[in-house]
Amino acid sequence: MAVLFDQESRTFSEFLLVPNLTTKDCTPDNVDLSTPLVKYRRGEEECPLRINIPFTSAIMQSVSDSGLAVALARSGGLSFIYASQPIADQAEMVRKVKKFKAGIVVSDCNLTPNHTLQDVLDLKEKTGHSTVAVTDDGTATGVLLGLVTSRDYRISRMQTTTKVGEFMTPLVQLITGRDGITLSEANDIIWDHKLNQLPIVTESGNLVGLVFRKDYEQHKANPLELLDHDKRLMTGAGINTHDYRERVPALVEAGADVLCIDSSDGFTEWQADTLAWIRERYGDSVKVGGGNVVDKDGFDYLAAAGADFIKVGIGGGSICITREQKGIGVGQASAVMAVSQARDEWFRRTGDYIPICSDGGIVYDYHMSLALALGADFMMLGRYFARFEESPTRRLLVNGSYVKEYWGEGSNRARNWQRYGQTTSGHMMFEEGVDSYVPYAGLLRDNIAQTLAKMRATFCACGALSIPELQKKARLVRVSATSIVEGGAHDVIAKESERN
Ligand code: IMP
Repeated sequence: MAVLFDQESRTFSEFLLVPNLTTKDCTPDNVDLSTPLVKYRRGEEECPLRINIPFTSAIMQSVSDSGLAVALARSGGLSFIYASQPIADQAEMVRKVKKFKAGIVVSDCNLTPNHTLQDVLDLKEKTGHSTVAVTDDGTATGVLLGLVTSRDYRISRMQTTTKVGEFMTPLVQLITGRDGITLSEANDIIWDHKLNQLPIVTESGNLVGLVFRKDYEQHKANPLELLDHDKRLMTGAGINTHDYRERVPALVEAGADVLCIDSSDGFTEWQADTLAWIRERYGDSVKVGGGNVVDKDGFDYLAAAGADFIKVGIGGGSICITREQKGIGVGQASAVMAVSQARDEWFRRTGDYIPICSDGGIVYDYHMSLALALGADFMMLGRYFARFEESPTRRLLVNGSYVKEYWGEGSNRARNWQRYGQTTSGHMMFEEGVDSYVPYAGLLRDNIAQTLAKMRATFCACGALSIPELQKKARLVRVSATSIVEGGAHDVIAKESERN
């Protein structure tokens, strides 16, 4: 006979946190929201990869490209760049993030003096960057001959056929730094000479890269920035269980810091095969997560298969119709509770702590604190990030309000057949996601600041200064349908407000 679970499955809105004593040291500034991303052994000093805030962005076309990855890493979280695109394109996105801020950035806009103003404009459009290095052979490592920035040309007064050599700022007028210079020395030169960028060149005059003033200033403004050992921004990337033999090496070579198998249902032999192949080829040097699962059996299977973290959630995503279409899933709060128990048991038994990620279904900011309190180590968010300026989709004016497009990986628009076990033939028989709009919400950094402020306040109310402390101390209560109504503004005539 089929198994029927005793408990109804529940979701975040059905719970609230009950305050604990807030001690005087429990202030928002003292709350540490950093969290482990990948497996580590009991007694090990440190998890090999931590994130500074417990947010990752969803492996989706409409969420995680290089632009969002840069913005999120600067705020302390990590993106997983979407896998439903050609391998070379995904690897290029990874490369773009890794190049974005090495302190010294490899120049990605390079021309020769014989190119034209039109070439400059085309390059600017393509890369979004406005500093062009002019080198003898038009490569990022050629002999530096000059720079073009937007100060060097006036489109309204110049022919687009004008040669770069005629309007660039030539080398003799440029201040440069010598290869081997430290970042702080480079920044001193930038400050002393009031520069916007400093080209770094070798003894023979070949370009090494550029140091930008704005990177220095932005780093000051982003104390939680997620950087690797070489001070480059960090990024993850999605993979699938079909073309991993080609995709994984390309992503590793491009510099991806961590990978994640992207699937709506991760309790499969294909995931075990993918993990085994990665372990055989790279040992533990390549970190890779698996999922999604919703119970102990799924967790134990992927843990035994060698996953570095495990994603939890089926059917709770805002654009998801998997439950309607296939009848598969579990309420997200119950899934997180079941899997976090399995993780703790696994840790007790084996000494390996395998972080779990609550993926999808976060609607209000307080749901994030609930997900953590229920046992998640971090979260993956789609809708939340899709609303921001930096997400890859178009911003549109619909019925007088700005919106951003947001579509599921299982929608006809994304056609990510590798994520769903419908066929192995490369096409989808039915949709598991919808194409939608979400309200435009502005810059990622501003929104994250507000969300984190709310989380820190929740943590303080619970008397917790870190995620493990919240998990240990949190007291939760189930709420009745009637008390959910009481939770919002009620019995008043609300004025228009900016509240979100
Ligand atoms: P959200 O944060 O509630 O918008 O959920 C995002 C999550 O939904 C993603 O991380 C995926 O796990 C999942 N997802 C993405 N696309 C689809 C889809 O088309 N159908 C079902 N689930 C999806």
